[in-house]
Amino acid sequence: MKHSLLLAALAALSGTLAQAKLVVGFAQTGAESVWRMANSASIKAEAEKQGIDLRFVDAQSSVENQTKAVRQFVTDKVDAIVLAPLVVSGWEPVLQEAKAAGIPVIIMDRKIVADASLYATFIGSDFFKEGQMAAEWVLAHAGTKRKIVELQGEPGSSAANERQRAFASTMAGRANEGFKIIARKVANFRRDQGRQAMAGLLAAHGPDVEIVFAHNDDMALGAIEAIEAAGRRPGQDIIVVSIDAIKTAVEAVAAGKLNCTVECNPLFGPKVMDAVVRLTSGGTVMKETFNKDIVIDASNVVQLLPGRQY
Ligand code: AHR
Repeated sequence: MKHSLLLAALAALSGTLAQAKLVVGFAQTGAESVWRMANSASIKAEAEKQGIDLRFVDAQSSVENQTKAVRQFVTDKVDAIVLAPLVVSGWEPVLQEAKAAGIPVIIMDRKIVADASLYATFIGSDFFKEGQMAAEWVLAHAGTKRKIVELQGEPGSSAANERQRAFASTMAGRANEGFKIIARKVANFRRDQGRQAMAGLLAAHGPDVEIVFAHNDDMALGAIEAIEAAGRRPGQDIIVVSIDAIKTAVEAVAAGKLNCTVECNPLFGPKVMDAVVRLTSGGTVMKETFNKDIVIDASNVVQLLPGRQY
């Protein structure tokens, strides 16, 4: 009798264990752009699909909020932590805490500068390559235009740092042909700030402005509004290039107002959640996984617009 009771208890326990949901803390940067909202939606949808209990924190573009969220996840003893770091530096102390607690950390979207043993894997796009692709597009299609202004994303973020570095170094290689970045303004990946920054750049540099490189589509769409408000034609009088390939930007390419957008695909929730499952079940993952991104311009927009998902 005792034996059968014990067996029943063990069966019940193993059933409970089998059903125990993985608990994952996700510290998102905020909701600064259309890209970001699509990224959050992709992570949430995949967690739901895989039956994972996702604790989502929108850090509202505050490093302090994001650090607090990660620390709370450690205190709560979650099974894994997903972090989309707002900026590159300052993460070591809180990642040490996660490591000491034995919680695997997945860095996604933006990179960090830290001891690589403090996180299990990075999953996201290659921002340097994106900046290069944008610059190469300009070099191939600029015609007689040479003077560039740049709208920059969140200062200190790997997205802004690497896109700026790649674009500038590619342009520097052709400085002998007159390509020059004449001014830069921070607009934090936000559409309203892109509009304001562009209005300021047009007021300060007037007809000198011939090309705009925006670190993301939201800022480019804001810039297009400012260019039109200044009585100039985006896409013709001023070349506009950006990064992300959100649907509204691809529509702007189709309308001839945005010349090119380099894709930065935010829909990698499945990759992130697969890494979570592997890491929490004793599996291994690659140290870095990069998404594949493409360039969208007038040459392929008709084929690509109908399939845009974000
Ligand atoms: O880190 C990725 C960047 O952050 C996207 O390009 C931008 O739209 C977002 O806010």
